[in-house]
This record gives sequence, structure tokens and C-alpha cells, in this order.
Amino acid sequence: MSPQSLDLRPAPGLMDTLAEQPLDPMLMVLHLLRNDPRPDKIDLGIGVYRDDSGHTPILQSVKAAERHLIETQTSKDYLSPEGDAAFVAALAPIVFGTEPDDTAWGMQTPGGTGALRLAAALLHRTNPDCRVWIGTPGYVNHAMLMQAASLEVIEHPFFDKPTQTLLFDAMMSALNEVRRGDAIVLQSGCHNPTGVEFSHDQWQVLAQFLNDRGVVPVLDMAYQGLGSGLDDDAWGLRHVLTQVPEALVCVSGSKNFGLYRDRAGALWVQGSNPNSVRRARTNLNLMARTLWSMPPDHGAAVVRIILTTPQLNALWRSELDVMRERLTGLRHDLATAVPEFETVKRQSGMFSLLPLDRDQVTRLRIEHGIYMVESGRINIAGLNQGNLPVFASALRSVL
Ligand code: LMR
Repeated sequence: MSPQSLDLRPAPGLMDTLAEQPLDPMLMVLHLLRNDPRPDKIDLGIGVYRDDSGHTPILQSVKAAERHLIETQTSKDYLSPEGDAAFVAALAPIVFGTEPDDTAWGMQTPGGTGALRLAAALLHRTNPDCRVWIGTPGYVNHAMLMQAASLEVIEHPFFDKPTQTLLFDAMMSALNEVRRGDAIVLQSGCHNPTGVEFSHDQWQVLAQFLNDRGVVPVLDMAYQGLGSGLDDDAWGLRHVLTQVPEALVCVSGSKNFGLYRDRAGALWVQGSNPNSVRRARTNLNLMARTLWSMPPDHGAAVVRIILTTPQLNALWRSELDVMRERLTGLRHDLATAVPEFETVKRQSGMFSLLPLDRDQVTRLRIEHGIYMVESGRINIAGLNQGNLPVFASALRSVL
């Protein structure tokens, strides 16, 4: 071989083989927003609660529980992959309305996202051929989380953005194609991104169908208490659990306790008998160990202290009421200011998916400094008495 024919270029490294990835749509909004120097920009992007001054406050109940924790905590020794069992026990009656029996078992996870990721891993472990049905439009991370566990995702209709209608019949007819052993992701209360909710009748039809067809529900409740109240938001979840033998329940404390960065979440499994639940528990322990080993403690400890201290529990409930009532009030104000969008007042929780196209969303950003997810999803809590009239007039200008 002549020296000229030798390829002396360095071999591509492992990282060179990677394809560049786009930012998740939610993080894209955050990125664009942070790089916009306009002082009066309006942030309706990522789903965090904000008060009327645009601030994401730490709840007083959380502050008090944190003070108590700092004063009384004597060790930061490891707990276990299951996390803080007393946190899970304190949260269970809020989620289920009663104490779960021995056919259900729960563990702490890093946020609701951790619960979903672990649920996906369990589904794959129990049935690698399980296909996961997800309504569209849905929460952007649901499909990615299921796919990360090598599960196939199938979308079914859920909501028509132009007419702001829940597509229950279209959904049920698409679901006719389910196979026994498939799973479905269902949000209970405060749907992200649409703010619409099944009626009780629709939940009943759906629950019966899931039982008849052997489909495992993955019930995601990330905003309990921010829609119609702690019990009302959980109605669908609780009803489904009475109708099906097996289910996975994923819960987040990020929004209703305002603990976003502290990652307090939980996963429960409901099984057909105590033995199957015990087997699931051993598998979940093993899988959590390889995903994050042990969940972070602080947020869960704070929730445990709040829920087990009557005075803090009452304070937290009243703070949750304030957040929910503010969201409901803003929905009414927006519907009054822009009658074309009056459906927002019939929706609930933190989000609505406005009937805007991508060009309109881009114009709102460029011409008015208003940020929302490119789909047209707005975080209602980003509105306040100061910016709502500005938002309403900008909306009218792009309609
Ligand atoms: C959202 O939808 O904005 C939140 O749930 C934040 C997130 O992690 O996506």
C-alpha cells in the first residue's frame, strides 16, 4: 500500500455517529423565551402554576414542612428503591379516596414522569408485545416515555382542536382495534394539553370496555385538585379502578404541591390478587434500581409532613383552592375578553389548546412576545390581570 493511499483522518468517535436531536416542543418554548430580551413578554409555555404577579410561589404549607424537616431530620442515609413508604401511605387516600387493600401497592418515584417511565418498563416486562394507546392530541412526553421502554405506541382520536370537541365516539371506534394485553394512557382530570374531561357516563362506558377487552389502563393524574377539586379530578381514575382487575396509577406532586424541581411522584399497581402485586413489587424494585436506584427524598418528605400534620394539611388544601379558583377565574376572564374562545371556560386545569395554527402561534411570539407551545397550548396560569388584556388584543389581531 503506498503512503498516499493511507487514510490518516481520525476515525469518527462514538459521539460522531449520533444524529442531532430537536428540542422537545416544551423545552423549545423555554429556550426561545429565555433568549427574548423584551421585558413585557408573556410566558404561557411550560406548565407551572404562577400567581397574579407571574411568580411560581413556594406554598406556605411547603415552607412550614421544610422548616420542620430541617429541624428534625437526623440522617440522609439511603432509604430504598421504594422511597418513603410513609409518603406513599399518606398520599394514597388523596388519590384513591380510601385506603387501598392488598391488591394494590405503591412506591415513590422521581416525579410523575418517573412513575410513567417505570410503568412503561413494567408493561414491557410483563408483555413485550403490549401496544400502548394514547389519545391525540396528548401530553408530548407520554409517547416518548412508552417508546423509551421499547413499547409500540398507537394514537387514537381524542380532541378536535378547531371545534374544541372531545371525540368520544371516534375514540371508541378506533379502540375497537385493541388486542387483549394492550395498554391505554388515560389522564384523570385537567387534561394536558386540552383541558377537557370525559363525562361520568363516558368514563363508565370506557371502563366497561377496558374490562371487557382486557386492556390495562395507565392512569396518569398530574394535576389533582387544580381542575374541579381533589375528589372530582380523581373520579375517572377511581371509577376505572373499580371496574378493571389490573391497572397502573401514576401521580405527581409537582403541581398540586408546587414541588416541581423536587420530583415527588408515586406509582401504584393494582393487581388481580395479592400474589401478583407482590411479584410486581419485586420487579419494580429491580427496575427502579437500574433506572435511578433510589428516588430523591426531600419533596416526598415535605408532602408526607404536610399530609400527616392536620394544620398543614388544612393549609395546603386552602392553598390548592386558591390556585384552582384563580385558574377558573382566568378562564372566565379570557372567555369574556375573546368570545371566539369561550370554550376555555368549560375546560379545566392548567391548559387549553387554542384553535390557532402554527403561523398564528409564531406571529404571537414574534410580533407580541407571547410564548406558548407551537400546538397552540397555553398555560392558563401564565395569564394575570396585567397581561390578559394584552393577550386578548394580540389574539384578536391574529384571528
Ligand atoms: C408541561 O406539560 O408543561 C409540564 O408537564 C412540564 C413537563 O415536564 O412537560
